[in-house]
Amino acid sequence: MTSCQCQGIEDLFNDKTARRELKRYRRKGSSGLTKHLIAFLEEQGVEGRSLLDIGGGIGAIQHELAERGAASVTNVDASSSYLAACRDEAVQRGYAERASYQHGDFTALADEVEAADMVTLDRVLCCYDDVDALVSKSAAKARIWYAVIYPRTDWWMQLIKPIPNIFAWITRSSMRFFLHSTDHVDSLIRAAGLHIVHQEKRNVWQLVIYAR
Ligand SMILES: C[S@@+](CC[C@H](N)C(=O)[O-])C[C@H]1O[C@@H](n2cnc3c(N)ncnc32)[C@H](O)[C@@H]1O
Repeated sequence: MTSCQCQGIEDLFNDKTARRELKRYRRKGSSGLTKHLIAFLEEQGVEGRSLLDIGGGIGAIQHELAERGAASVTNVDASSSYLAACRDEAVQRGYAERASYQHGDFTALADEVEAADMVTLDRVLCCYDDVDALVSKSAAKARIWYAVIYPRTDWWMQLIKPIPNIFAWITRSSMRFFLHSTDHVDSLIRAAGLHIVHQEKRNVWQLVIYAR
């Protein structure tokens, strides 16, 4: 990640956004494909398993899987505000001793991050330029399940693709959004020895779950 993109992430995913998202999450819980991702993993059985949530934000996946008995949860996130909000919520929910946090770009930290039974990236690929590094290094960490939610790439997505970056340009944010090819992302994950077990689409997003 360029230092510019890193700064863009800290600026966009700041204290104010983190507080707002946590408040909404406390009121409504997880939603959309995130809810389906959690339900899928729960059905497989999370008791005693470890979770690595990359770009985990305020931590919806971590909170819910920890409450369903995950042995440990780790959040590696480039936003210090999101990590702080996530940690506060883990304390509130009483599972902080099973949680750990690493701040920074996952691709730079990957060698220091332990493998986990379940690896999740919920709406993270679209914030990151070097998709090869992010996907290959994260997929290599998945012992059993690898779940990713990222923008679908149907033809009509090409039409709306510039909108987030026009907005970023207007607000003078150095943050950029990326629409990575589904075929390319899928080929990187398969190259890591994983295969698809579940796939669904909703609005602009797709959830794809792989198993080893
Ligand atoms: C759109 S938010 C999604 C947060 C959360 N996963 C969710 O779905 O609510 C994207 C998150 O990915 C993080 N992120 C983006 N690229 C990253 C990277 N290379 N390493 C670690 N975190 C990253 C951002 O800091 C941010 O918290």
